[in-house]
Amino acid sequence: MKERTFVMIKPDAVKRKLMGRIIQRFEDKGLEIVKMRMLKMSRELAEKLYEEHRNKDFFKELVDFITSDRVVVMVIEGEKAISVVRKMIGKTNPLEADMGTIRGDFGYSTPDNLVHASDSEKSAKREIQLFFGEY
Ligand code: CMP
Repeated sequence: MKERTFVMIKPDAVKRKLMGRIIQRFEDKGLEIVKMRMLKMSRELAEKLYEEHRNKDFFKELVDFITSDRVVVMVIEGEKAISVVRKMIGKTNPLEADMGTIRGDFGYSTPDNLVHASDSEKSAKREIQLFFGEY
């Protein structure tokens, strides 16, 4: 069954001009980009996106980073898109992410780990609604 997931290309990837290469990977895999836009997030929006991390010690660092420059947000559709995209981006910490994943190939630290993708259908719905107003 087709699923939709939310993907965000983070400010570090935009600054490093990796946007095209990251998008290319999703297209090469056979996934469909059904919505996409570039924006600079407000702190309010960033805090909402990452509300589950509000009590973590890295929360302020994460919000500072994610609001530091533009991001590209997308809705990606495909068979099992949520787990396929999570597999493609790799583990949160790029030092632990497998080679061949986006974070494994291009990343070296957190919070600047290049991409974010929804971890469940519930998160996908919430995150897509937050940025695109509808699921
Ligand atoms: P993401 O998949 O967007 O979900 C939460 C984000 O918090 C994560 O990617 C990283 O950008 C960031 N993050 C997670 N763990 C840490 C950490 N230990 N230190 C700094 N940032 C982190």
